[in-house]
Amino acid sequence: MASGARPSPSLLLFSLGLLLLCFTSGTTVRLAEAQKTWCVAKPSADEKALIANINYACGNVSCSVIQPGGPCYKPDNPVSHAAVAMNLYYATYGRHPWNCDFQKSALIVQSDPSYGSCTYY
Ligand SMILES: *[C@@H]1O[C@H](CO)[C@@H](O)[C@H](O)[C@H]1NC(C)=O
Repeated sequence: MASGARPSPSLLLFSLGLLLLCFTSGTTVRLAEAQKTWCVAKPSADEKALIANINYACGNVSCSVIQPGGPCYKPDNPVSHAAVAMNLYYATYGRHPWNCDFQKSALIVQSDPSYGSCTYY
């Protein structure tokens, strides 16, 4: 049984191949992550829609960052607060287009909207 316990060379080669495959797909995942996107409010969206979006998003995720004293409280306007809240929702439930729709009042962007101490995740 001593020789049978040793893995055959072909099995070793196969494992090596699997390992390589893992590394290769890992690279692909990292590349995909480099294309990170964020969800913001359309500048043209009306205030009613924005407030509805804040209420919806903040009913699902914690929006303490846009509360007074939070890092994203300023500027204190609906577009900015809605964007932060909508992006939190998008980041929390998966960056899928359907999580950044908000009745067509949202926009997926490819540049990080973070500013000052306010981080968009
Ligand atoms: C967010 O909250 C709404 C209303 O409570 C609910 O219908 C919806 O399923 C929630 N979304 C997620 C992704 O949990």
